[in-house]
Amino acid sequence: MADNNPTPDTSTAIAAGAPTATAVTAAPPTKPVPPKPAAAKPSAKEPTRRFFLASIFGSWITVAWVAFSASMAAMLLGTLRFMVPNVLSEPPSTFRAGDPTNFELNKVEDKFKDVGAWVIRGRDDRNREIIYALSTTCTHLGCTPNWLESEKKFKCPCHGSGFKITGINFEGPAPRPLERYAIKKADDGQIVVDKSRKFQRELGQWDDADSYILV
Ligand code: FES
Repeated sequence: MADNNPTPDTSTAIAAGAPTATAVTAAPPTKPVPPKPAAAKPSAKEPTRRFFLASIFGSWITVAWVAFSASMAAMLLGTLRFMVPNVLSEPPSTFRAGDPTNFELNKVEDKFKDVGAWVIRGRDDRNREIIYALSTTCTHLGCTPNWLESEKKFKCPCHGSGFKITGINFEGPAPRPLERYAIKKADDGQIVVDKSRKFQRELGQWDDADSYILV
């Protein structure tokens, strides 16, 4: 029986330049190979050992410098503070009380109580008319008495000591009279009180001419 599908003569086909089976089944075109990613460079932010050590030592040096600078500044300030003298602002110890004619006999005014004194025109033990300045400090424990016009006495609100207009104690626990301040007439005739000098009656100091002004 005759073969109806004879096998093509390859030699003839090759000779005729026909494409061979091999040529027909050629390998498919290769895909482009993607380029290999380049080896990752170390990031600049990534801490290297050197960078780490530098950071540690750098920060310690910075801390040390800051501490050193602060201590030097403190020493400098201390030295300057030592060289500058302390300045205490104290109220002046003297004050002017005005003209003697401004004071009425046996009249107590609180005009100078804020600066710690009562300036009074009165009479002394010898019945002389004088002007004197009494301290407003109670001789018991240092409170400030009040002048009670109706009772004509100084009364201490703390423990009840009482003082006459002369300053002499007569009731309560105060052990002695109020103290007087130094007083004088200035060249212009004005009264000047000096609180830096005090006179105590129990010591006989009220006889001192600096403790009163004769009127
Ligand atoms: S302080 Fe004035 S009576 Fe005590």
